[in-house]
Amino acid sequence: MIDCSVWWATPLPNESRYLDLLDPLERGRHEAYRNEIDKRRFLTGRTLAKTLAAERLGRVPGSIEFDATCADCGKPHGPPRVPGASLALSISHSGDRIGVALTDGIPVGLDVETANRRAEDSLIEYALNATEFAALKDLPQEERARTFFTYWTRKEALMKATGRGLKIPLHSITLSGPGEPARLVASADGALDPARTRLADLDPGDGYRAAVAVLAEDEIKVTEHWWSPES
Ligand SMILES: CC(C)(COP(=O)(O)OP(=O)(O)OC[C@H]1O[C@@H](n2cnc3c(N)ncnc32)[C@H](O)[C@@H]1OP(=O)(O)O)[C@@H](O)C(=O)NCCC(=O)NCCS
Repeated sequence: MIDCSVWWATPLPNESRYLDLLDPLERGRHEAYRNEIDKRRFLTGRTLAKTLAAERLGRVPGSIEFDATCADCGKPHGPPRVPGASLALSISHSGDRIGVALTDGIPVGLDVETANRRAEDSLIEYALNATEFAALKDLPQEERARTFFTYWTRKEALMKATGRGLKIPLHSITLSGPGEPARLVASADGALDPARTRLADLDPGDGYRAAVAVLAEDEIKVTEHWWSPES
């Protein structure tokens, strides 16, 4: 059984006690966001990820430095890793939710999305293949959106677990129906083998959908927690 813990937080303020945890590359990314709330989401993801990594490794958060080099372009916006540590993590943010998922080094992907908004037809076509589309096309508008974001977060969690993210075509994988336990049924991409992927839906609260994926044959045990800086 593989343990996977997921921690949820709401956006922290842009204050120096958190900003001081960022290294120069992270400072640059923080400054480049134009909207205050985007800065706060980024800062919260990094603060939470560093705090959790530090707890696991018996270190202080300020000593954790991520290598987030993008495999495609070399910029520091790829999946974060702690060099030399047997720890894997994934960060996701949407609306007022910021999440971090951790394992003892088994590849993990997390995705959270606000789900109380319209799911545009173009987005549905981009994300779902014909089999999946058939499962939601006749649903009333609201349920259709909720169902779509269930699919979307499951797919994006899987893509993020591979480290390639949306470079993998979303149509190349088929998931179980939205009312069934989350599962990868088929994959045309070599990075995702149904026999070696585990998927679980999460509960980040009303108006959100979230899922976590772990690339492993063994079953996973997922625990969810809420985090606040005082806790
Ligand atoms: C990563 C990606 C899935 C983000 O999706 P999103 O819903 O907008 O954002 P989320 O909040 O869920 O995830 C953001 C986090 O994903 C992580 N991430 C970035 N690239 C990743 C990747 N290839 N695989 C897994 N995780 C990745 C980062 O930790 C990021 O958090 P950060 O802001 O602290 O750096 C999407 O942007 C992607 O697939 N990018 C890779 C391909 C690409 O287009 N690259 C850009 C040019 S090279």
